[in-house]
Amino acid sequence: MKIRLKTCTLRTWQNGDEHSIVRHANNYKIWRNLRDRFPHPYTIEDASFWISLAATETPQTNFAIDYDGQAIGGIGLILRDDIYRCSAEIGYWLGEDFWGRGIVSEAVIALTAWAFDEFDLSRIYAGVLEWNKPSMRVLEKAGYQLEARLKNAVIKEDRIMDEFVYAIQRKQ
Ligand SMILES: CC(C)(COP(=O)(O)OP(=O)(O)OC[C@H]1O[C@@H](n2cnc3c(N)ncnc32)[C@H](O)[C@@H]1OP(=O)(O)O)[C@@H](O)C(=O)NCCC(=O)NCCS
Repeated sequence: MKIRLKTCTLRTWQNGDEHSIVRHANNYKIWRNLRDRFPHPYTIEDASFWISLAATETPQTNFAIDYDGQAIGGIGLILRDDIYRCSAEIGYWLGEDFWGRGIVSEAVIALTAWAFDEFDLSRIYAGVLEWNKPSMRVLEKAGYQLEARLKNAVIKEDRIMDEFVYAIQRKQ
């Protein structure tokens, strides 16, 4: 998979991405906005494990955000199952050096369109921690709408807080 965009390219994770993953992902400011399963500190072993997982998954739903040949971030989907199989969750992160350039907004727009083309989905959603205004803005710019504020739904850094659920529907 390769989608060329103005600010970046979305592509399959590949061997050789390990060092740039560690360079950009090993950042507490990134970790504090993601699930606890995202490693911190982020080691070379974590990066190798991630590449082997993402490069061999079927179907492929996790992609590197590539800038100038370097994997500077990641974006992906979790396809839900059972009665939720018409839904997918989107997630993403970007190396701090590249924040504020519109990269993830463009990536979310592109991956959302790709996902509706590729899979039989009616809805794509994201869960955002209450302090993560940049991510809420990214989703709004990509056409997602705030659907719910789940009170005290999540815990991060030992603090219980609200989760903001943003979603976009397939255009009829
Ligand atoms: C959130 C994240 C993905 C944004 O990536 P990015 O490429 O910098 O985002 P963009 O440049 O496309 O857009 C960011 C928007 O947030 C805005 N923003 C930044 N800080 C803000 C703040 N404190 N309050 C409100 N808006 C803010 C920017 O101004 C921009 O909006 P604009 O284009 O209208 O000016 C990146 O900061 C990141 O990786 N954070 C850590 C991991 C994470 O939060 N992942 C998402 C979990 S839900």
